[in-house]
Amino acid sequence: MKKRYWYGLQKETNPIGFGCWQIAGSHSIGGLPNGWGEVDTKEALHILITAINSGIDFFDTAQGYNSGKSEQLLGEAIKQTKKDVIVCTKIVLTDDEIKKQTLDLNFSNRVEESLKRLEKDRLDILLIHNPPDNIRWTEFDYTQIQELQKSGKIGTFGVSARGLNGAKNVVEAKFGTVLEWVFNVFERRPVSNLFPLIEQNKFNFIARSPLSRGLINPKYLTNTPIFNDDDFRSTLPADWVEWTLDSLKKIHANGVAADDIIRQSILYCIQNKAVTSTIIGIRTTRQLEDILKMNTLNIHSECLNNNFLDGVPECFPKWA
Ligand SMILES: NC(=O)c1ccc[n+]([C@@H]2O[C@H](COP(=O)([O-])OP(=O)(O)OC[C@H]3O[C@@H](n4cnc5c(N)ncnc54)[C@H](OP(=O)(O)O)[C@@H]3O)[C@@H](O)[C@H]2O)c1
Repeated sequence: MKKRYWYGLQKETNPIGFGCWQIAGSHSIGGLPNGWGEVDTKEALHILITAINSGIDFFDTAQGYNSGKSEQLLGEAIKQTKKDVIVCTKIVLTDDEIKKQTLDLNFSNRVEESLKRLEKDRLDILLIHNPPDNIRWTEFDYTQIQELQKSGKIGTFGVSARGLNGAKNVVEAKFGTVLEWVFNVFERRPVSNLFPLIEQNKFNFIARSPLSRGLINPKYLTNTPIFNDDDFRSTLPADWVEWTLDSLKKIHANGVAADDIIRQSILYCIQNKAVTSTIIGIRTTRQLEDILKMNTLNIHSECLNNNFLDGVPECFPKWA
């Protein structure tokens, strides 16, 4: 499979990456669920080790995924496999940092915490996690990040943006070299709104939510999703879920076989040359096995026909 190049690291990875939010287990933030439900720690470790040994070489995690549990599991898996994989983690700015437009003196300590949990000397990619969309990055003092980069503690940096405007804002300000945002068959605005900027500015793009929070699943052609209280998806807007499921039925009606829906949706993301990594949130061993089966196909050279998206708006109309 053709590898993708990271400008800020001078390294390459496979187009399919691993999103580690799902394996963090149940947790909440501000009284609301922020995880995807309970995950057995042994299984989570097994999934990560199998993924690494099978050639997945890009992992996206965050301090906020169960207070660093996902970072810690990833660190353990990397230690056990002794493989060189690229790790991207995320740190949330404090209210004070946002207000003062500068990083707190202890920012480097927060980076050290991630390094410790990941058992690494260097964070390949450090992203600012979900900052407000209107931050003026050109005026933001990020000297500490630049110093961490000079000292080799981080490879490169960027932002995992909240909204589309925030995503554009990052690339236009040339804040770092990496942008993470949503990209999937039902959120295609990046194609015209971000990818030209990404390519022009030699940024790398990480496509998150490639399976639209797991709603891109043939079982939802006939069943209505029911999410447990400890699954953050129980808090998703009902009108968005309904639109997504209607759109799923539309692409099926447009000719995508039920058992090919997940594969086609992943292909849609990875076929775009502006996308460096498509990070799939894998929650079970079975899901990993299924993804690996798709990954063994020579998918990079397949000529994709996107007619199956005819009549499907490029995003949830309320958000357009
Ligand atoms: N702001 C941010 O920075 C941010 C926000 C969102 C995500 N992310 C990153 O992006 C990653 C992925 O995006 P996402 O969390 O939105 O999730 P996603 O990848 O769109 O969907 C994940 C869900 O897809 C389902 N799934 C996975 N593999 C499958 C398979 N082989 N067959 C059937 N279903 C499968 C699972 O659903 P079930 O659980 O229902 O089985 C899983 O929970 C996260 O892990 C995280 O690293 C970052």
